[in-house]
Amino acid sequence: MRLKRKDILTIEDLGRDEIELILSTAESFKEVSDREIKKVPTLRGRTIINLFYEASTRTRTSFEIAAKRMSADAINISASSSSAVKGETLKDTAKNLEAMSPDCIVLRHPSSGTPQILSRLLRCSVINAGDGTHEHPSQALLDLLTVKQRLGKIQGLKIAIIGDILHSRVARSNIYGFAKLGAEVNIAGPPTMMPCEIEKTGCRAFNRIEDAIKDADVIMMLRIQLERQKTGLFPTAREYSQLFGLDSKKLEYAKKNVVILHPGPVNRGIEISSDVADGKYSLILEQVKNGVAVRMALFYLLMGGARE
Ligand code: CP
Repeated sequence: MRLKRKDILTIEDLGRDEIELILSTAESFKEVSDREIKKVPTLRGRTIINLFYEASTRTRTSFEIAAKRMSADAINISASSSSAVKGETLKDTAKNLEAMSPDCIVLRHPSSGTPQILSRLLRCSVINAGDGTHEHPSQALLDLLTVKQRLGKIQGLKIAIIGDILHSRVARSNIYGFAKLGAEVNIAGPPTMMPCEIEKTGCRAFNRIEDAIKDADVIMMLRIQLERQKTGLFPTAREYSQLFGLDSKKLEYAKKNVVILHPGPVNRGIEISSDVADGKYSLILEQVKNGVAVRMALFYLLMGGARE
């Protein structure tokens, strides 16, 4: 089976049935990573280029591992060691890479909307690995998979997303994803970090973390993105931590067996305390593990199997 689309650009434009297909496919690929020989021949002969204009540990590594576990040829390009530093445009870089016949380009870029531009320019598949403050669809898919596996469902759950919503592509993709699968999404953060009209996406906005996480089944803490802030959006890290950081005391507002998520990298002691990040409710490393399965599923559903 394949998706009836060439690219994965946003969660906003995926249907509920497509998200459910990606999650069930990822579940079926998860066991490959537990095998002694972690490889299947499914994408032999396919070529995947990871084109990253921003730093990444989890996303880039897991797209590469996913490609290799499916026997595809994976090539990694960092902008800092490419001809981008000589002034080559993204369009020229993409067209030159396409001339070498890849089947898929995975793009991370600091400017929102760049994967959409590549999608229109290129015949090969494009996967958005995070564009500016816009979306990070594969992250939301691995978050959905992690919650579904732990709690058995998404429908009817209460999800709280806390922190720098304004700059967070992870938050935007997750708000769409959880809402599409029938969850109730609360968000909270400093007023300077809350986007205008965010409630039009269907979530509820709160000023206090305690109100947003009350009776929550899932709490997703966001990283403070110092690299995207042009002005001081909060007075001090200490004050941010006191008001919006998650620690064991604030955790008492949530449900008893709450699930804690964080996309990483974690600013320990700012948005989350170490005892919570490493504690029994945290699924942070399970998220990373599921990232490989979700990215295998995306490659398979775009490039493997028979087209419907
Ligand atoms: N979650 C995430 O996008 O992490 P990286 O920036 O390390 O890829």
